[in-house]
Amino acid sequence: TTDAVIFDLDGVLTDTAELHFIAWQAIANKLNITFDKEDNEKLKGVDRENSLKYILAKGNLAVGTAKFEQLLKEKNDQYLTLINEVNPSHLFDGVLSCFAALKKSNVKIGLASASKNASLVISKLGIEHLFDFIGDAASVANSKPAPDIFLSVAHGLNVLPKNCIGVEDAVAGVRAIKSANMFAVGIGDNQILTQADLVFPSMSEFDFNQVETAFLLSAT
Ligand code: BG6
Ligand code: MG
Repeated sequence: TTDAVIFDLDGVLTDTAELHFIAWQAIANKLNITFDKEDNEKLKGVDRENSLKYILAKGNLAVGTAKFEQLLKEKNDQYLTLINEVNPSHLFDGVLSCFAALKKSNVKIGLASASKNASLVISKLGIEHLFDFIGDAASVANSKPAPDIFLSVAHGLNVLPKNCIGVEDAVAGVRAIKSANMFAVGIGDNQILTQADLVFPSMSEFDFNQVETAFLLSAT
């Protein structure tokens, strides 16, 4: 049985993956490091500190702790400016009807985002009240691709990981779901999200009946 569906936020429920990209690209530009969409694909789902480490390593650049902290702050300040504009109209098509279908089937809804800004974005989208549990990225030891955030949300929802379905747009996120021993639904390109059990091009194609059928088949 499906007890819960646990969603990633950035790039799954709304287009904030693009806003993270814009903010990181500005930092990379300033440091004279090239940073394109392909690099960004590797950073999807990756936490703030590790994202900056990736960019610095790409540019063969070493910085001290103070500079590192300053770059993190700069990125986040710009990101906060960008998400200030977020409102309920930015919710991806298909999300509300998907949540309604889950509620109708008595399936719990969780949020497992790597973002420390997740609660803010969720409240700007006006969907806080639809979640049974919202995970806290700041309180888990290991970030995606480690399973920690998905496991902590399953725990918070009081369900077993093996009865959960995770939904992700990122390679690191799909790996986190699989490491948590959950069924993984990818949102995006199936050539990129190769480890997912099932992939939809976007949330508007997410079909809970199809997901559940595939999930139950995979469990037998
Ligand atoms: C993830 C995004 O959800 O959160 C990443 O996919 C982002 O791009 C990460 O770096 C951390 O977000 P924040 O808001 O804590 O910097
Ligand atoms: Mg994501």
